[in-house]
Amino acid sequence: MCGIVGYVGSRPSQGILLSGLSRLEYRGYDSAGVAVIGDDGTLGMRKRAGKLAVLRDDLAAHPLADGTTGIGHTRWATHGGPTDANAHPHLADDDKLAVIHNGIIENFAELKDELLAEGYTFRSETDTEVAAVLLGREYRASGDLVTAFRTVVARLEGAFTLLAMHEDAPGLVVGARRNSPLVIGLGEGENFLGSDVAAFVEHTRNALAIGQDEIVAIRPGSVEVTNFDGEDVEVEPFEVVWDAAAAEKGGWSSFMAKEVSEEPDAVANTIRGRVRDGAVVIPELEGLDELFLGIDRIVVIACGTAAYAGQVGKYALEQWTRIPVDVELAHEFRYRDPVLTPRTLVVSISQSGETMDTLMAVKYARERGAKTVSICNTQGATIPRESDAIVYTHAGPEVAVASTKAFVAQITALYLLALHVARLRGSLAAEVAAEQVHELEAVPAKIAQVLEAEQAHVEQFARWMADTHSVLFLGRHVGYPIALEGALKLKEISYIHAEGFAAGELKHGPIALIEPGQPVFVIVPSPRESAELHKKVVSNIQEIRARGARVIVVAEEGDAAVLPFADEVLRIPLAAPFFEPLLAVVPLHIFAMGLATAKGLDVDQPRNLAKSVTVE
Ligand code: G6P
Repeated sequence: MCGIVGYVGSRPSQGILLSGLSRLEYRGYDSAGVAVIGDDGTLGMRKRAGKLAVLRDDLAAHPLADGTTGIGHTRWATHGGPTDANAHPHLADDDKLAVIHNGIIENFAELKDELLAEGYTFRSETDTEVAAVLLGREYRASGDLVTAFRTVVARLEGAFTLLAMHEDAPGLVVGARRNSPLVIGLGEGENFLGSDVAAFVEHTRNALAIGQDEIVAIRPGSVEVTNFDGEDVEVEPFEVVWDAAAAEKGGWSSFMAKEVSEEPDAVANTIRGRVRDGAVVIPELEGLDELFLGIDRIVVIACGTAAYAGQVGKYALEQWTRIPVDVELAHEFRYRDPVLTPRTLVVSISQSGETMDTLMAVKYARERGAKTVSICNTQGATIPRESDAIVYTHAGPEVAVASTKAFVAQITALYLLALHVARLRGSLAAEVAAEQVHELEAVPAKIAQVLEAEQAHVEQFARWMADTHSVLFLGRHVGYPIALEGALKLKEISYIHAEGFAAGELKHGPIALIEPGQPVFVIVPSPRESAELHKKVVSNIQEIRARGARVIVVAEEGDAAVLPFADEVLRIPLAAPFFEPLLAVVPLHIFAMGLATAKGLDVDQPRNLAKSVTVE
């Protein structure tokens, strides 16, 4: 979970590297560094613990000779704490060679022993430096950076994206990937490498996705991709669908604020092009009818917020397709010998498409003969490439660590998938399906209404609650995963203890937590569509209110039954039950952001977290 950028061309590289790193900082932000082969032919390097700004200030105060070949890194520590010494790049071969790395080299201890026995020394506690020193040794032996690099990657175990350059070979950056992302940006007389396209999108939207266990050598006028044995391989070109402005903060106070404001667009863009004559037809799934007709079980796998999107989607997926659906955390799924057959469809959900736990679970499912569909927001990412089919969410780049617009886009994509499969299988009457499509298409405008009507109100009481130590969230049916998501968001960015519970579970334990003043959010289902559940949740509200809870309800417009027991009422427009979560989550996202902001915290880069968790 680090960010990597590489450049070769004719322009000074430092500015390009730093701006690429600023777009990748979401991947890790505890230290950063750059190495550049200066125009004087020597390799210079600077690295600093702390956010990218620390490195930037250091470079401004003590400039490094610039040049047209360089690599840059932003780190989220795994081996060795976030110190200057452990930051990347790591140097070897008398400081003429620089290496950066994302991932974990599992056999680093054994390789280090081998190198120590030969008299090599180390300056950091990282596994990366072992790869650097090994590369230095191999370079000495072969005199060719690409050959040496190939020898080294063949010896590494684990997950890695590695980039390297040597001052003897200006105009060349080599890279390799295994279970960790790397994409190529193609420019005019210049080329780029990045952990994702954000690293270079301001310079080019022409990209190449490289596959598993492949090596790339970029030079100003050429790009060569081979496998680890040195044989040429086919690479897949693609055009980045968004531009640099989409990955900028614009006038917003934070990326998270911008991304919450984009929730209506995230849903609308995910639906676009997938509805034909009132029915859902997902073009990317054309030709796969047999696959969807042949399945008898669906398992949704994901981590974090994406797993909650899966839990919301389960209700509709099961009801509309009449196929049993399980939702599992990817890291639990893989380690319990799950029953998988060729008739099982495993649907993975991942914003980044790189979450290692999810990736490994997808591979595991495929190896055992299951079919795999990936719901993903990032073009060229690894998980979609490892899956039988892809349904992209078109939420646009999500930069803030805490996921918001991707969450609503993921639920939308699951609904589209459910309606696509239901149409193929004839499990849902065409008129009913058309009504659902109609409801889905109305969601973007309704989210916009929630933002318009509730943003200032929610931010205000979030400020009043800045001293709160604990917040509980209750929900039922599709509102239950929304309660979990509300609690997760608050934990992630405001560091407040928060728990989400199924409202029906209240009297089986959580009610013991209620004491006077305890804030509790309750997601209330519609009294029109779910009268029975509505009554039960209102009873829950009375139960907690009687014990002194401070109750904040999220309820549809006109629901008066909640008024006598609520301290705050947040309104959402009327919607059919499956679509309420897409509206009810919006005030919870605003609340988490408002409270973290009131506490003076950085909502985009919360402590200890990284957006893309590419280690297990
Ligand atoms: C991390 C992030 C979460 C995200 C989860 C899954 O934990 O902090 O915001 O929901 O990873 O990420 P993915 O990219 O697979 O959706």
